[in-house]
Amino acid sequence: MAKAATEKKPVVKKKTEPNKKALVKDKSKAKYYFTAKNSVKVVQDRSGPKANKRVKYLVDTLVEHLHAFIKEARPTMDEWMYGINYLTRTGHLSTDWRQEFILLSDVLGISMLVETLNHDKMSGETESTVLGPFYVANAPQYHNGANICLDGKGVPILVYGKVTDSRGQIIPGATLDVWQANEDGFYDVQQKGVQPDMNLRGVFTSDNKGRYSFRSAYPRHYPIPYDGSVGDMLKALDRNPNRPAHLHFMVSAPGYEKLVTHIFTPDCPWLKDDAVFGVKESLIGDFRMVDDAKRSAELGFPNPFYEVEWNIVLSKA
Ligand SMILES: [Fe+2]
Repeated sequence: MAKAATEKKPVVKKKTEPNKKALVKDKSKAKYYFTAKNSVKVVQDRSGPKANKRVKYLVDTLVEHLHAFIKEARPTMDEWMYGINYLTRTGHLSTDWRQEFILLSDVLGISMLVETLNHDKMSGETESTVLGPFYVANAPQYHNGANICLDGKGVPILVYGKVTDSRGQIIPGATLDVWQANEDGFYDVQQKGVQPDMNLRGVFTSDNKGRYSFRSAYPRHYPIPYDGSVGDMLKALDRNPNRPAHLHFMVSAPGYEKLVTHIFTPDCPWLKDDAVFGVKESLIGDFRMVDDAKRSAELGFPNPFYEVEWNIVLSKA
């Protein structure tokens, strides 16, 4: 009997080679090594199947552009560490009273770009602009006509107007949160103990005819906070830190999109060189000097004073 016919051949264990192609295809098991060439993909492929789609899209796109920046600009190790320390310092400087990260976004034109791209379909509505770093929630609520200039400093102004939709329909009950710098170019939060808390801030409500009004003081241009990480960057870039004089508005009403905007004074020398790129031509107000002894007496103002009519048109939500 031929022995060989029934005998099994000894099994030679084959070394199992990982199927590289399969690994690359299976994103949940991406195990290929990082190289400069595939850097974007290797990071993006680490996401798992349960990744939030929107977060993944935003982070993947951010990684793509950040890696492109690094490959083009080629920062040294010291420069990379400077960047890490710079962002760390920016975070440490941010508190309830100071928002260095918003400021960084502002001076890089990011805030204005996000704002502009999100409000590009306008049909007569009031244009929006940056929030800025000086908004404080829970400002005092006032009746229309109240004076928000608590220390009486500066040239008095009367601000009034109405809130409507784009078809001219009045909007009663709209909330108008306003805030501004004083005649020296400082917000109350920058001068604790010098200005009264909540100076030049207030929340108003449009009346049953959609009207609002308040008294205040003519604002002055001001430099953005210049003593932190953002100031260091502007100095290194030889950039102007000034913002043209303005009043901030945040207007909201049920059924309408919240509007964040400014009124700029027309005579400010920094209108065309805003450090945070916030000026839009439609937001320059017509501040008129009023010489009327009777009206100024009624308002409790010296004569003459300034007034500006500022009508606000909201977009449907
Ligand atoms: Fe401001």
